This record gives sequence, structure tokens and C-alpha cells, in this order.
Amino acid sequence: MPLICTYYLNPKERPGFMLDRKFNKVFKNEDPLAYHSKIRRYEPTPLISLSRLAKSLEIKELYVKDESRRFRQHNFKTLGASFAIHKFLEANPGKHTFCTATDGNHGRSVAWAAKMKRQKAVIFIPVNTALSRIKNIKKQRGKVIIVDGDYDAAVLRAREEAEKNGYILIQDTSWEGYTEIPTLIAAGYKTMMMELDELLHTSKEPLIDFVFLQSGVGTWASSVVAYYRNKYPRNMPKIITVEPMESDSLLESIRQKGLSKTKGSQQTLMSGLNCGTPSYLAWKILKDGVDLFLAIPDDYAIKAMQNLYFPFKNDRQIFAGESGAAGLGGLTALAFDESLEKVKKEIGLNRQSRVLIFNTEGVTNPEMFEELIIRETEV
Ligand SMILES: Cc1ncc(COP(=O)(O)O)c(C=O)c1O
Repeated sequence: MPLICTYYLNPKERPGFMLDRKFNKVFKNEDPLAYHSKIRRYEPTPLISLSRLAKSLEIKELYVKDESRRFRQHNFKTLGASFAIHKFLEANPGKHTFCTATDGNHGRSVAWAAKMKRQKAVIFIPVNTALSRIKNIKKQRGKVIIVDGDYDAAVLRAREEAEKNGYILIQDTSWEGYTEIPTLIAAGYKTMMMELDELLHTSKEPLIDFVFLQSGVGTWASSVVAYYRNKYPRNMPKIITVEPMESDSLLESIRQKGLSKTKGSQQTLMSGLNCGTPSYLAWKILKDGVDLFLAIPDDYAIKAMQNLYFPFKNDRQIFAGESGAAGLGGLTALAFDESLEKVKKEIGLNRQSRVLIFNTEGVTNPEMFEELIIRETEV
């Protein structure tokens, strides 16, 4: 059966594209790199050029910012959680219990950041979360509470428990009235981009044409869009968000012209991206900041994991989890899916294109990883 992707191409002219003022004031002024670089084991994550894989995808250049070893927690979410907790404690010193809901990576990161500051963490997880993800949270001394429901249900429970028990909610999504902490989380993610200031974006031209961003609630994508909008207001690279077909809430929201829940089954291997509804704050930025909203079946993400793990000729090997590889999955779909030929042309992805992707997680679920890197795909 052929793999089918779905998409929405935003109109070229989007005169309304402005960053939310309150958000951008914080985003621009904060220097998360100054904080992160003082943490033990801080190292900028590498930028890797994969020229052979680029050739096979019929593009000029492919760069991967590889977050797979960030702070030995194997995912980029450490940057947001640690910065938000640090800023909160700066303003409110003392002992606190931090809580959050998570599909895995964010909860592990909140527990890690709380432990580093000698604070407590309570993490709410959806009932079908993989055992290895629960273990990763427990290793960081996080108390795990299993919620009988999906990611949205876990968020609701974390909100209720925070209110009831006086926990400090460090949630990486936002809703009306809850924007301060998510803004700090998005500001924390900026460290990744500040590292790129030294590695890639050293001149007045971004030197890339496309950025692929795998998205769950969209907070990370909104941070990257804000960075480019501030740094290259007139020559921003084109932004493509990539979501699982069955959990495509950004795509659904742009179609409905307002924040909407996915109509998909939410059955996807890309568990980090399996969030029912976008972040209220991120959506304000992404609705105009994204050029192409793309949703892909799982097989493209699996193929991307395999292409990173079994490198082409002299390319470097990269360890990527299902969600981490999804950006490359989106690029792979645009390269090979015949039904995307028209949109590929319209957006201008071709043999001259220079593309940046991010591997946002390494091996966070080893059993799944072992199985997926050898699984047959339809791609
Ligand atoms: C590995 C990975 N990549 C990307 C994302 C997407 O981030 P966001 O939910 O902010 O869109 C997540 C979210 O958990 C993730 O775990």
C-alpha cells in the first residue's frame, strides 16, 4: 500500500506575521546559553554535514544538529526544563515540588533539572508510556504517576494536582492564562540556536534554505521560528513542521484556522510528538511562521532512523529515536512521495537546497530502537 502524507502550504504572503510581543521580549532578552554552559557536562552539541545522504535525497546540503547526547539525557528537552526551573528558583528561592505531564522526554528533563537543584519532581504520564521511559524518569528521582488516558489527560491531571498540592507546574505547553513558564521553556531551547550562531549562522545570510522541525505541541518549533524571525527577518529560511499522520494537531489547526485537536487515532510510534492539541502560545507564532505543515506516516520516521544509523559511505553515524528522526522523515517524504511532487516544487525544494534538521533525541527507548532499525518499511 503506498504511503500517503498530508500537508497544508501556507500562502507566501503573510503580512500578519509578528511574534507575540510579550513572548518575544522574554525570548530576546534571556541568555540561556550563559546558564546552560555552567552546568556540569555542558558541551555544545555537534553540527554534522551528511553529504552522501544529501545526494540520495537530491538536495545540495544536509546539516544535522545532533542533540542525542545533550547532558547525557539524550534529548533536547533538558534545555527548556532546566532554564524554566532555574528562572523560577531565582525569583522564588526555597524548597518546591515541580510537576509536569509528559510523553517521556520532558518529564525526564524536569526530574533531572529538579534533582540538580535539590528539589522534588512529580511526573504524570499517559498509561501507555514505554517502561524504559518511566525508568529514565525514576533514575532522576522523579515520582511517577500513571494517568489512565492520553497526553492531554495527563496534562489536565498535572494541572489539577499542581493546584491542589501547591506544586509548581513546569509544562511545555500553554493555554490561556498559563504562558509564563512555557515562554521560559521556549527561551531555554534557544541555547541550541545560540550554538548554531557559532557553527552555521555566522554571517548575514543563514546559509540554509529549509529547516525541518518535528512537532508535538509546537513549543520547540515556536522557539526556532522566533530565533530565525529575530535573526534573519528579511531572509528567513523556509520552515517545515513535521507531525505524525495520526497526531497532526498543527495541521488540523491550520486547516480549521484556530487551535484544534487532532482527528487522528493518536496511534503512532513517534511518542514524543503524540500530543493531542498544540500549545496556545506556540500556535500564535506557528500559524504565520510556518511555510509548510506536513504530516507523515511512521514508516518515514523509521526509514530516517535507519538512514542515520546505517550511514551512506563516509557520512557519520547518528543515533536517533523515532521522534528525533522525524524531521528527516519529513524530508525523506518530500524526496520520495509522488503525491508531494507538486508541493515540493511550489516550496522550491530541489538540488540546490541546503537543509537543516535536528536530531532531537537519541536512544531513549532501547528496546524499540533495536527493533526499528531493522524493521522493513514501505519507503
Ligand atoms: C524528541 C522530541 N522531538 C521533538 C519534540 C517536539 O517538541 P514540542 O512538543 O515542543 O513540539 C518532542 C516533544 O516531546 C520530543 O520529545
